[in-house]
This record gives sequence, structure tokens and C-alpha cells, in this order.
Amino acid sequence: MIRKPTLQDVDGILALLIPRAQAGTVLFRSREDIESHLRDIFVYESEGQVLGTASLVHISTGLVEVRSLVVNSEFGRKGIGTTLVQACIDEALELGYERIFALTYVVPLFARLGFHVTERQKLPDKIWKDCQTCSKQDHCDETAVIRDLVRVEVDALPRALENPGADPAISIGNPQDAQTHR
Ligand SMILES: CC(C)(COP(=O)(O)OP(=O)(O)OC[C@H]1O[C@@H](n2cnc3c(N)ncnc32)[C@H](O)[C@@H]1OP(=O)(O)O)[C@@H](O)C(=O)NCCC(=O)NCCS
Repeated sequence: MIRKPTLQDVDGILALLIPRAQAGTVLFRSREDIESHLRDIFVYESEGQVLGTASLVHISTGLVEVRSLVVNSEFGRKGIGTTLVQACIDEALELGYERIFALTYVVPLFARLGFHVTERQKLPDKIWKDCQTCSKQDHCDETAVIRDLVRVEVDALPRALENPGADPAISIGNPQDAQTHR
């Protein structure tokens, strides 16, 4: 189940993030940072255990980042990461953002959800200030992926539902089934 975390989930979120941050695959985040951004975070929970997490980070007007995407490795390749990114997309749409991006090592996951690879230099400079704590800041090997967030007009829905694969902004049912697409 995907949901917003509570303070009781912070230990579970940190338990996912810290080893990955130490490995250099996600940015380090402090307990205080997590606690103060709970409303920007999603967790995937099963039987009371936090199995995955992802965050939405506001970058600038219209632009938001998927960050701190981590899934418990014992539960990998079951669609949890995809579900978390889809939740970020849905919320970014609801909030009125125009574009969503990530810096990632797993381009296929994002490509399935409509992201495409972009040049990192095209992203605003301010995103790099958060990389100062990263051990790879001078030799970042992540790929930037970005997706437009297209609002679907109500009139267009019946037509789009007949052919969901035609519009990457529409996902129906399990996001893993959609043919569409840090
Ligand atoms: C990346 C991560 C979040 C993926 O979570 P997940 O729940 O396993 O992802 P999904 O099951 O939704 O995978 C969807 C697709 O992404 C790709 N993918 C996922 N994990 C992958 C991996 N480790 N290596 C290569 N491709 C991968 C595959 O194409 C996969 O589809 P498939 O299983 O049908 O082949 C998880 O492996 C993780 O926590 N990694 C360490 C931290 C990290 O790299 N975070 C990403 C920063 S943006």
C-alpha cells in the first residue's frame, strides 16, 4: 500500500536510505530533514513494514524532482519502485507542476513511466547544491530523466481511455501495466 508516512515511519525510511546513501546511490538525508518533509514523501508499506520510499522535491515554479527513491532489496523487481514513482507523478500533476525529473541509475524504470533522458546541463543549477554532501559530486554518473506533466481535459478522456497507450499522462489500473512509461 502506498501512503504518506507518519513520524512512526521515520526509522523505516532512514533504514532504507542510509545504506543506499553510504553506497552513493541516493543522497544522504538526516532524520530532521525526513521529519520536516513528511508531506513530500511516500512510503510503500506491507504488513507494517516500510518496503520503499520516494520523495517529491520542489525545485522551481513548475519543476519538481523525484528523489530518495529506494526499495528494500529483498522486495526488488516487484513493481514497488514503479508504484512509488507513479505516486510522485500523480501528486505532481495534482499540484500543478509542468515537469518532473530524476537523476537515476535505473533509466528503464523511469522510461516506462514516460520519462526521457535529458542533458544534465539543462537542469537548473540549484539542484546541484544538494549534491555537496554526495561522495560522487565530482564524478556524478547518474542519468537525468524528465517528463512533461500533461493535464488531460475531461472532453478528451473517453477518446484517451479507448487508447490509453496513446497518452503517457494516463495510467489505468496497475501502473506497471501501462504501456507508457533520484
Ligand atoms: C531502483 C529501485 C528503486 C527499483 O525498485 P524496484 O521496486 O525494484 O523497481 P521495479 O520493480 O518497479 O522495476 C521496474 C523496472 O525498472 C528496472 N530496474 C529496476 N531495478 C533495476 C536494477 N537494479 N537494475 C536494472 N534495472 C532495474 C527494470 O527494467 C524493472 O523492470 P523488470 O523488473 O520488469 O525488468 C531499487 O532497485 C533501489 O532501491 N535501488 C537502490 C537505490 C537507487 O538506485 N535508487 C534510484 C535513484 S533515482
